[in-house]
Amino acid sequence: MKKIVIEGGAPIRGEIHVSGAKNAVLPLIAATLLTEGVCTIDECPWLSDVDTMCRVLTYLGAKTGFSDNRLSIDTCGLKSVATPGELVRKMRASFLIMGPLLARFGKVRMSLPGGCAIGARPIDLHLKGFEAMGARISIGPGYIEAEAPKLTGAHIYLDFPSVGATENLMMAASLAEGPTIIDNAAQEPEIVDLSNMLSAMGANIKGAGTSIIRINGVSSLRPAMHTVIPDRVEAGSFMVLAAASGGELIISNVIAEHLKSVIAKLQEAGVVVEIGYDGVHVIGNEHIHPLDIKTLPYPGFPTDMQAQFMPLLAIAKGASVVTETVFENRFMHVAELQKMNADIKIDGHSAVINGVSRLRGAEVSATDLRAGAAMIIAGCIAEGVTTIDHIDHIQRGYENICDKLAAVGARIKTVES
Ligand code: UD1
Repeated sequence: MKKIVIEGGAPIRGEIHVSGAKNAVLPLIAATLLTEGVCTIDECPWLSDVDTMCRVLTYLGAKTGFSDNRLSIDTCGLKSVATPGELVRKMRASFLIMGPLLARFGKVRMSLPGGCAIGARPIDLHLKGFEAMGARISIGPGYIEAEAPKLTGAHIYLDFPSVGATENLMMAASLAEGPTIIDNAAQEPEIVDLSNMLSAMGANIKGAGTSIIRINGVSSLRPAMHTVIPDRVEAGSFMVLAAASGGELIISNVIAEHLKSVIAKLQEAGVVVEIGYDGVHVIGNEHIHPLDIKTLPYPGFPTDMQAQFMPLLAIAKGASVVTETVFENRFMHVAELQKMNADIKIDGHSAVINGVSRLRGAEVSATDLRAGAAMIIAGCIAEGVTTIDHIDHIQRGYENICDKLAAVGARIKTVES
């Protein structure tokens, strides 16, 4: 099993490049199932989640190729609408193939999805949407089947602006008969990226990025080429690292507009963030002000950045409160940070963080993907050596993280334990 070892306290300084967005590319890969032919996705990060998604498509009969961050997917040979249980259970986002397969082939059988252990994460909103479009859903032990010879457009109100449900329903509605309205839709930048790729494939979509998305179904879609948006969570993680280490990073391939809430919180903490043409310049500060943070759907503060802010607040001058409203069990990193001398108490959905002068290196776990990023930030700013296990979680979402951070001064390496 591999571990990450970090010798803390090295100055973080230099230029770092952000990869394409994991959360954008996974639905884009699913969207290729809506057409027959070869789609190409540029700036695709090479991550274990991308590999898993490609293996799901290969199982279904597609051919995938990857070179120089260009992913090509040939969907001409699709032969199955039953998905591989082991792969789907590994990653929750694999559930995004349900909408495309149902819309294109009229039938799909899915194993129940897996993913990071951050709460119950039901899929009821996806299923309610498919049912509203005329699908018959049956649920058996460990699997779900959906059937609809032809989906029909519908007015769907989402009780919560779920990212995955919005994406799944957008894809299904693109090939449904007639118009669909998704009301209270998620507004994340990844939704807009998916809408752009679907439009390039010939779909008729309006309103992506707002809370009401209108989709007029078309009879078929064509293959397309698309470039993935930069990963706002990777960018945000590097920004927090610069801030917490008192260092300075020029971070390229960033759409700063996607990070407004994160930048606002860093500035409130006393960190200098300058926005440039294609990136941001972050200058850390020895005296971090405490913050109150509440996670919310976009454009609110992202739940995917909550864990990374904790090591920063753990060394702030005063008490901070972080409230998690999107997922119910997303404080697993707190116990790990406590091992590093952080003073954090959980009170229901909130964590109260009393700043300490230093974090200390320890043996910790990456309990989920973003918690893993938090451990890396904590390890870089702590006194002494930090060893992180279960790093497979980190490899799901951060491309070449150790090489990238070593290049800006971090004393970080991966070792075989
Ligand atoms: C996506 C992101 C994930 C991010 C999350 C919230 C991807 C691949 N993953 O996950 O990194 O943390 O958005 O920004 O893009 N819910 C239901 N019923 C449903 C669907 C969701 O109750 O049918 C609930 C979930 O349990 C959760 C909340 O809605 O509490 C948000 O989930 P959702 O927006 O769907 O997240 P994902 O698409 O899984």
